Amino acid sequence: MRLLTGIQPSGDLHIGNYFGSIRPMVEAQEEHEVFAFIANYHAMTTLHDGERLRELTMQAATDFLALGMDPKKSTFWVQSDVKEVLELYWALSAFTPMGLLERGHSYKDKTARGIASNHNLFSYPVLMAADILLFNSELVPVGKDQIQHVEMARDIAIRFNNAYGDIFTIPEYRVDDNVKTVPGTDGAKMSKSYGNTINIFGEKKAQENVIKKIVTEAVPMEAPKEYAQCNVYNIAKLYLNDDECRDLQERYRRGGEGHGHFKLYLAEILWDYYAPYRERRTYYLEHQDEVRDILHYGARKAGTMATEVIEKVRDVTGIKY
Ligand code: ADP
Ligand code: TRP
Repeated sequence: MRLLTGIQPSGDLHIGNYFGSIRPMVEAQEEHEVFAFIANYHAMTTLHDGERLRELTMQAATDFLALGMDPKKSTFWVQSDVKEVLELYWALSAFTPMGLLERGHSYKDKTARGIASNHNLFSYPVLMAADILLFNSELVPVGKDQIQHVEMARDIAIRFNNAYGDIFTIPEYRVDDNVKTVPGTDGAKMSKSYGNTINIFGEKKAQENVIKKIVTEAVPMEAPKEYAQCNVYNIAKLYLNDDECRDLQERYRRGGEGHGHFKLYLAEILWDYYAPYRERRTYYLEHQDEVRDILHYGARKAGTMATEVIEKVRDVTGIKY
């Protein structure tokens, strides 16, 4: 199965991103053909600071490689390195009714939140359709907010195919119900926009300080404690096997330890879990040219596939004369 995903380069990754999207993608590499790219053209819809976009693109590439994106098993590149996507975007635009885009939740939400409305933001789903269709993607794993975009890609592909024959594979989306929603330090869904995140990579002290701020019940040290609703427990359990979970539950039930102890324990677990990734990240940070080489290698692989599809598109549309 060919699986495709786009990653917006949006800064420091948190453990919600890790469980919700990074780990499933890394695991998928074992059984699927994974196409993953950094969606820097998409980031341009709202980010208009060139230096910052460049920095975020390299940061995303570095972090994803550190966390297990494997350029040998998968195809990993930066969106703007395969320019055919922009050509396809134009061709698909001719099959995108205005009404379809006007119904876009993402556009409506963003403008309602005061983000300036521009054509880029409006036509964003067409570029996403081009991303998906250019590589004959069969499956697009998404969070709920992106379902509509894949539906639009299907709709556009069907309209195009109706006009020109079977050019595009009609993609499916998959919302993984097994993927847990990771709670933030306040118990709400962890999200950058809520300021309740625990970052994957950061200084040890800073990470401990964030963990110390996790909201917990005020219970005397000696008293037994509830674990099921405890934010510290609910984050820790993501990293523990069954035996370790039972041990931690027992420590809650027994009393005699405060939430401070559990927080310190969580800080240790996190620090140890990400140690090998941190090491690999340090390596890549010191070898940014290697990261660029990997991205260019990925772009060449992706480009070969893109050329095949775009040639067909040029041919059937009569652009090739
Ligand atoms: P944020 O909410 O911090 O802005 P994004 O919207 O950029 O995060 O999410 C990037 C990816 O990480 C998406 O696939 C999303 O589903 C996943 N993700 C983000 N937060 C969580 C969370 N708390 N639990 C599970 N997955 C998450
Ligand atoms: N729009 C997606 C997001 O905001 C990123 C993205 C761009 C994408 N192109 C894609 C995701 C193609 C899947 C497939 O997260």
